[in-house]
Amino acid sequence: MILRRARADDVATLAAWDEKPHVKWCTGHDPDTPLPAEAREDWPAEIARLDDWQEIWIGEASGRRIGVVQIIDPHREASHYWGKCAPNQRAIDIWIGEETDLGRGYGTVMMREAIERCFSDPTITNILIDPLVINEKAIRFYRRLGFVDVGERWFDDDHCLVMELRRDAWAAGQAN
Ligand SMILES: CC(C)(COP(=O)(O)OP(=O)(O)OC[C@H]1O[C@@H](n2cnc3c(N)ncnc32)[C@H](O)[C@@H]1OP(=O)(O)O)[C@@H](O)C(=O)NCCC(=O)NCCS
Repeated sequence: MILRRARADDVATLAAWDEKPHVKWCTGHDPDTPLPAEAREDWPAEIARLDDWQEIWIGEASGRRIGVVQIIDPHREASHYWGKCAPNQRAIDIWIGEETDLGRGYGTVMMREAIERCFSDPTITNILIDPLVINEKAIRFYRRLGFVDVGERWFDDDHCLVMELRRDAWAAGQAN
């Protein structure tokens, strides 16, 4: 499995994944109704961005697209989703596209690579994530990767659990 940069020819796949019930559910949308227009990602624009505060990666296995990892600098990201935020952090979003690819170990490989990429910059102190508090499967997944709870927080209407992986905890795990 590899992580590669998202390209213009990934747009249709990314848009189709956005409408998958398990993807809509994890972002606080009704899994059974189409995404409202304002909630749809503008993938062509996101992929074409030249800003250095966001990276979009596609996980591929045997040449087949499996999922996506978005890495942002929460201090500089344009929408200021994370609010006022210290520098030298990263925030990650991850989702697997097809239901049939869930729970097969792909997410773990993608996340490990993304974490390694974040910490390859020596200035990065920690990585943030914000699953919905009801997303028990994702929370268990992140805990297994070494993330710990920071606290619950509302992002607009979404009740989330902020979690973080600190560089020292990650480095200790690498040494084992
Ligand atoms: C959260 C998510 C990214 C995890 O990715 P994943 O590929 O499903 O996760 P993994 O397969 O690596 O690990 C999950 C489970 O599969 C099991 N597993 C790991 N490797 C496996 C393998 N090779 N074969 C079978 N099962 C495996 C793990 O033990 C784990 O089980 P558990 O949760 O019951 O303990 C994915 O489930 C997902 O996209 N969910 C929907 C969107 C979402 O919630 N995103 C997170 C938003 S914060």
